Amino acid sequence: MLNRARHSLFDRYLGISRLLAGQLDFHAIIQAVAQEISHIIPHDHLDVCIKTIDAKYHIAYESGLDTAWSKQPPALLTGSPIRTLLAGDVDFLLSDDACADPRFHFDGAFSRPIIDLSLRSRLHVPLKVQGNIIGALSCSSHERGTYTMEDVECARSIADLLAPYFFALRAAEQAKRSAVVETEARAREEGLRLGALKLTEALEAERQRIGMDLHDQTLADLTRLSRRMERLAAQPDMHADVLEPLCRTLQQCMHDLRQIIEEAKPTVLQLFGVAEAIENHLDRSVRESGQPISWEVTDNSDGLLVGIDQTVAISLFRIVQEAVNNAIRHGQPDTILVRIRQAEQGQLSIEVIDDGCGVPAPGPVAESDRNGHGIDNMKTRARLISARLEISRGSGGTGTTVRLGMTRDLTSRAGGQP
Ligand SMILES: Nc1ncnc2c1ncn2[C@@H]1O[C@H](COP(=O)(O)OP(=O)(O)OP(=O)(O)O)[C@@H](O)[C@H]1O
Ligand SMILES: [Mg+2]
Repeated sequence: MLNRARHSLFDRYLGISRLLAGQLDFHAIIQAVAQEISHIIPHDHLDVCIKTIDAKYHIAYESGLDTAWSKQPPALLTGSPIRTLLAGDVDFLLSDDACADPRFHFDGAFSRPIIDLSLRSRLHVPLKVQGNIIGALSCSSHERGTYTMEDVECARSIADLLAPYFFALRAAEQAKRSAVVETEARAREEGLRLGALKLTEALEAERQRIGMDLHDQTLADLTRLSRRMERLAAQPDMHADVLEPLCRTLQQCMHDLRQIIEEAKPTVLQLFGVAEAIENHLDRSVRESGQPISWEVTDNSDGLLVGIDQTVAISLFRIVQEAVNNAIRHGQPDTILVRIRQAEQGQLSIEVIDDGCGVPAPGPVAESDRNGHGIDNMKTRARLISARLEISRGSGGTGTTVRLGMTRDLTSRAGGQP
């Protein structure tokens, strides 16, 4: 007889185990197993409360009766009527009349559902995984004095069956939440990048507009002024010695302005492309430096730069422009090479190689020692078009190599994003 009872209890546990399989959320599990549990521990209300991973809050899932416990958002553990059990202070809670049991009613306890729904007999056991309490299983009955220590033992066995499943579900939910947070953060970062890229584009357009205005308006005015001054200086009653330096200063101003306009408006880039613009810049910069530097630009990009988006093209050009300027200004090199090529898997690679004195070794640089912004700007521009930028000593420790790599689709404005 006893054997038969044991057998049927064993069958019930197996039934619970079978019902667990394939259930993918807490609520579905409770609904699935509540009926089977009621054959082992009769109840009017059954709930499972699960602690959050930080062990500060808990969430309740219930069956049989709908109470405010499962309707509230994750609630503080300190307000739970079974906080002593959840904290591990007691091994179980058994009450013949929870409505009048002071253990469930204390200042700040959310025990109203016990009174509202007359949950008199109550029994609670912890859900444990590897000795850690992850929540609790609770059964309640409207009748007084329903449960005994034998029911507590049965509840412990059921809790042992449920706990690993709940533990895995909680971990999976946490991983899902983390993935969502990470995806959102990445989307925000990408949004910022695209916003900054748009801004760069607008700034570049504005820069070109100012360049054109300076050319059409200011340079034209200065040219007129210069002619008038030359005519004045030629008049016999004028002091040529006073006007002549003024004329020279004005010529210098116009020269500087032409330079600014040239800088502001990368016409060669727009008309002929990145490689030609780099060549044009190298030629002009080396000539103006007066240094005996030989240079070469090789383009083995196999058409990778054809149809490239204008913003990407301008960024690539400006980065190389600064690398070339740095090489001439700081390196005193004999040669400067710019190598444009298609690297592995269709990636674009641009290298600016000089054989000068070499960049200082990387290391902490005192704020007061950092004057230039060229390299910072190069890095920002590279980030905006999702390019990789490396600045290092050349092979053999001499000179400087600036290496720019792009993996994304160069023809799309955002560097590969649709
Ligand atoms: N090709 C190079 N050869 C030698 N030193 C270099 C080279 N490129 C950069 N450096 C060193 O790195 C420093 C930082 O360069 P960065 O372009 O950031 O500033 P800068 O050229 O001094 O000023 P800015 O570019 O703002 O006019 C330079 O001052 C120089 O010491
Ligand atoms: Mg610089």
